[in-house]
Amino acid sequence: MKLGTSNFFERAKMLEVVEKTWNEFWAYYYRIEHRHNIPGIFDWDKNLVDFIETVCELKPSARVLDLACGGGDQAKLLSAKGYRVTGIDIAPCLVEFAKDIFAKEGLSGEFLVGDMRKIGYDSEFDACTLLSGSFGFFGDAEDLELLKSIRRSLVPGGYAFVMYLSPGARSNLTGRKVRSWCEMKDGWDLFENWFDEETKMYRGRTFIIRRDGTMIVPKSQPGYHADESIRCYSVEELKAMLNESDLEYIGNYSSKDFSRPKSRGPSASASDILLARRPIAGTACG
Ligand SMILES: C[S@@+](CC[C@H](N)C(=O)[O-])C[C@H]1O[C@@H](n2cnc3c(N)ncnc32)[C@H](O)[C@@H]1O
Repeated sequence: MKLGTSNFFERAKMLEVVEKTWNEFWAYYYRIEHRHNIPGIFDWDKNLVDFIETVCELKPSARVLDLACGGGDQAKLLSAKGYRVTGIDIAPCLVEFAKDIFAKEGLSGEFLVGDMRKIGYDSEFDACTLLSGSFGFFGDAEDLELLKSIRRSLVPGGYAFVMYLSPGARSNLTGRKVRSWCEMKDGWDLFENWFDEETKMYRGRTFIIRRDGTMIVPKSQPGYHADESIRCYSVEELKAMLNESDLEYIGNYSSKDFSRPKSRGPSASASDILLARRPIAGTACG
């Protein structure tokens, strides 16, 4: 029998629910198993890293700080190009995964478990990346502090490459929950997404129906990114935040074609790219 999306969600209510923490289960499942199952994702990573290399004007053996690095999918490509990568993620299992891959592939890089809000680098990196929509997790005040820490981590002239969720790309989710699913090896991943126009928050829930009849749901934990709740900033808001962080706005790009600055108007990309730079003769910033 072919199941429609609503049948799935109705059936899901009857299953035994098992809660799993972000690190024990979700981080690995969602950022590795699920991500690696997305058609074309490795080509996308490759194009993304080529684009980072170009727009951040990376010189040979440049130092790159990859915040919220996940399982190191992009860090691996940066390292293979000869850049010195430091990856930080809050999920220990993802950091372990990245370290294992680097060891297996003979790559060099440093991976640390940590909260990106607590980095304390001072003028060390030629570029800092936050990839795949990893900006907007913490609320306006803390997101601004994060930009300030990124600015401090950069050498003068160093680049911040930040992928964020644009409100334009999410407006089709306003006022309704959009449900979708995909089949995986052990069952089905179900997604429920919506956009809160008032708070400009993109919200998302993911859960899994296993073939054994259980339903896996994320356990709420402070500080972990389990259910998605991400602030979608407009370019104007981001520019104001850059101004407060003493970062110079360079451009806004689409994460769909990696080719050129976006034209004005609502974005068609789910996650967009903000490129900024620490001024060469910058002023001291908090
Ligand atoms: C959207 S994923 C992106 C992962 C990776 N950059 C990629 O493109 O595959 C967001 C990542 O942020 C991490 N994360 C969430 N909160 C964090 C925090 N406070 N500090 C560091 N990493 C965090 C999650 O563990 C997850 O790996």
